[in-house]
Amino acid sequence: MTGKENAQQMEKIVSLCKRRGFIFQSSEIYGGLNGVWDYGPLGVELKNNLKQYWWQVIVRDRDDVVGLDGAILTHPAVLKASGHVDTFTDPMVDCRTCKARLRADQLAEKNAVKQCPNCGGKDLTEARPFNLMFQTQMGASADPASIAYLRPETAQSIFVQFKNVLDVSRKKLPFGIAQIGKAFRNEINPRNFTFRSREFEQMELEYFCRPEQGMDLLAYWLKERIKFYEEIGISRKRLHILDVPEKERAFYSKGTFDIEYEFPFGRQELEGVAYRTDYDLQQHIKASGKPLDYFDEETKERFVPHVVEPSAGVDRTVLALICDAYDEDTAPDEKGKMETRVVMRFHPRMAPIKCAIFPLLRNKEALVAKAREVQALLRPHMNVFYDEGGAIGRRYRRQDEIGTPFGVTIDFETLGEKGEELRDTVTLRDRDSMKQERVTIKDLPQLISSKIR
Ligand code: GLY
Repeated sequence: MTGKENAQQMEKIVSLCKRRGFIFQSSEIYGGLNGVWDYGPLGVELKNNLKQYWWQVIVRDRDDVVGLDGAILTHPAVLKASGHVDTFTDPMVDCRTCKARLRADQLAEKNAVKQCPNCGGKDLTEARPFNLMFQTQMGASADPASIAYLRPETAQSIFVQFKNVLDVSRKKLPFGIAQIGKAFRNEINPRNFTFRSREFEQMELEYFCRPEQGMDLLAYWLKERIKFYEEIGISRKRLHILDVPEKERAFYSKGTFDIEYEFPFGRQELEGVAYRTDYDLQQHIKASGKPLDYFDEETKERFVPHVVEPSAGVDRTVLALICDAYDEDTAPDEKGKMETRVVMRFHPRMAPIKCAIFPLLRNKEALVAKAREVQALLRPHMNVFYDEGGAIGRRYRRQDEIGTPFGVTIDFETLGEKGEELRDTVTLRDRDSMKQERVTIKDLPQLISSKIR
């Protein structure tokens, strides 16, 4: 696709997200809050499906990982020790003409002179470090000692609680602590829809190990994480692995891989898999004076574990799911004329609604009653949607556009009006092939459940 086509594709995706209730601008009726987004009725289902699947494969399916849900408000000493207070910055300049605050590394340049991208002004301040953390005040006191921060990553509460979790879980190395939660960064220039937001959610695993296991576990987790993206339906050909060169890695990292996705606006990071050595635990040992070490019962050694961290962005992955699923093909309308069909090809595991249920006609009481029965039968197993409004073809299109993989239609055959052998059978429609097969109602829960797990 050309740059223009990519931009048009992104416009269509953003517009569908709003029109169908995936993602809205936050505080929209007041003009919007820049870099902050709200997830609508379908967006929240998609996001929950992603988070639940991550939790399933990272925590529940494994013996060596436990979970944590840490607080967002963070003691300043934690972020002083981690380095965020002093070094979590972007270089920033101010335009003296239009007062815009700009990232120094994103300035336009004309004839080797840096310019403001807003007004074209050349009167810019020197670059200054701008801390990306949101700071707040705890309690009523204006004392500087009452400062707290909104966490810039979920990782730090895992390091700070390492000893408590180790004591209660009685895990042996290697083992991990996983967390899903909100984090906040005061991005100077939020952009690319939800990709770079000021409030976002992370799915992070800190996997602790012996120092000599670090490099092998980095390779192991990279492979596991690529498998995860394939399992949620992201096409492998749009995923790329960047082996981050030493000069671009954090100084304490012995190896980092970025997992990138080809968005319509360019190739961008979804997840970083980083071998962080023992840097974080050592920093907190030094700053708190508390022993955050590990005693190996077999070798009788006491040491500070190293850590490999797969750190994924929830919102970025939701956006990748949406971009990857978006497709247009052709399908016949009511009169058999071919028209463009927008179809979100979500993996059934991720789709916000798994099955739509349609009585063929809304004004036939027996059809409606049977459709409600089917809804009640499926509801305990999956998220279903009942729709009786409009021509059946139009109802199918509405579900295609939001990626519902299955549609069940209750018709006169279901009522036994076309022969006893068809009584209590329905048509099961597949979103992608648009093919329909006749199946028995009582087989539906098992048939669909096996495809959405
Ligand atoms: N914990 C790594 C990150 O937030 O990027």
